Amino acid sequence: MSHTTLPPGFLWGAATSAYQIEGATQADGRGVSIWDTFCSTPGKVLGGHSGEQACRHYFRYAEDVGIMRELGLDSYRFSLAWPRLMPDGRGKLNSKGLDFYKRLVGLLLESEIRPMATLYHWDLPQALQDKGGWANIDTAKRFADYCFAVFEELADVVPMWITINEPAVIAVLGHMSGEMAPGHRDAREGLIVAHHLLLAHGMAVRAFRDSSGRKRAAGADASQPVKGIGIALSINHQEPATDDARDISAAKRADGFWNRLYLDPLFRGHYPEDILEPLAQAGVLPDALAKPRPEEMQMIGQETDFLGINYYTRNQVVWDPADRLLNASAVAPRPPVTAMGWEVYPEGLFKVLKRVSDDYTKIPLFITENGAAFDDSLPPDGAIIDDGSRIDYLSSHVSAARRVCECGVNLKGYYVWSLMDNFEWAQGYSKRFGLVHVDFQTQQRTLKRSALWYRDFITSQR
Ligand code: FCB
Repeated sequence: MSHTTLPPGFLWGAATSAYQIEGATQADGRGVSIWDTFCSTPGKVLGGHSGEQACRHYFRYAEDVGIMRELGLDSYRFSLAWPRLMPDGRGKLNSKGLDFYKRLVGLLLESEIRPMATLYHWDLPQALQDKGGWANIDTAKRFADYCFAVFEELADVVPMWITINEPAVIAVLGHMSGEMAPGHRDAREGLIVAHHLLLAHGMAVRAFRDSSGRKRAAGADASQPVKGIGIALSINHQEPATDDARDISAAKRADGFWNRLYLDPLFRGHYPEDILEPLAQAGVLPDALAKPRPEEMQMIGQETDFLGINYYTRNQVVWDPADRLLNASAVAPRPPVTAMGWEVYPEGLFKVLKRVSDDYTKIPLFITENGAAFDDSLPPDGAIIDDGSRIDYLSSHVSAARRVCECGVNLKGYYVWSLMDNFEWAQGYSKRFGLVHVDFQTQQRTLKRSALWYRDFITSQR
């Protein structure tokens, strides 16, 4: 691969999230999150697993930063646990929780690894869920307050902030299909949640602009790596499985539901008309989306400094009258597929980035998550985990990222999901996404071949 095509300051990183790696769910005054509750509800998470131990990163963060240094990462994306910082979701910051993130960030900066911190990666304080969670607009206000308090403490040392990770997944899997916390099954509620998450994002951006930390961090010039705040959207590539007109319109609805429902309000100031119609027909369209208030749309559409895109796969969509909401469903993925059953389709990453750049925004883009689960196990003889399929996945997606830069797309960085094996939500510990293998009994970390590949790749880019 040539060295010439990536923009200066391009960041190679890896990503994690708090509930998936930290463990220590009862340590130092952390409050209960909706994921603690969900995991302790029988039948919700495979194997009855929970994030109670996870990678015990809360205690082992120094070792983990050491691994990042060994891999030569330019940047590390992690999330802050709201219930660790504000056990009840409101009030003053819990100083012990804050100390943990200060120590982590301090060590990253000392190691010359740029922190990118996500403020909300799905672990809502249970106390707020008890008052209606994201279906209650008050949660968005609490979120803005929490963010403001965090910015006052950390915005001068953390250069890049993500407000909310994947509002679509929270709305759909958390509130419509019930596969994730809080496990509700109510399409109308899910759409209200989507609107409130977007509002919460906008309010957090405003809090960032108002915070004194932001003033201290200001003044970046274009040749420097990006600073500031943005959101991370899950954007997989939705396309029709055939050229039948019904499949084409079904794919358009799927794209509207998963992608444009977020991109349009963020970058065009309105919800996409064509998706509101089928939702109204299905009887689930709330007023919040049908008749949003202009000041709310303004709040949602505030200017951000960058956009994060999480990309994993494509869906090939067909017309399906059995699907009540959209009359659309995805066909079985074509091989090769990952252990999640997701098709390996690097071309989709190219298409998604190009499309966002052509149709929505020229602000810097980051691939804030991309990666694959495969069934790796530690060979008994101490040999290396030879995860060639993961290397193939990553290298083909990295090539797609490079190609899109050559087409003039303003892409500024790439983060592998994930630095290490961790708690994969409803799949518990059964799905391994890491560059680094974690033995969840002993907490031993072992570099897989993909970690060495990524290390060498990053070196070759310097
Ligand atoms: C994304 C999540 C992340 C991880 C990957 C596999 O949707 O943001 O936490 O679970 O999927």
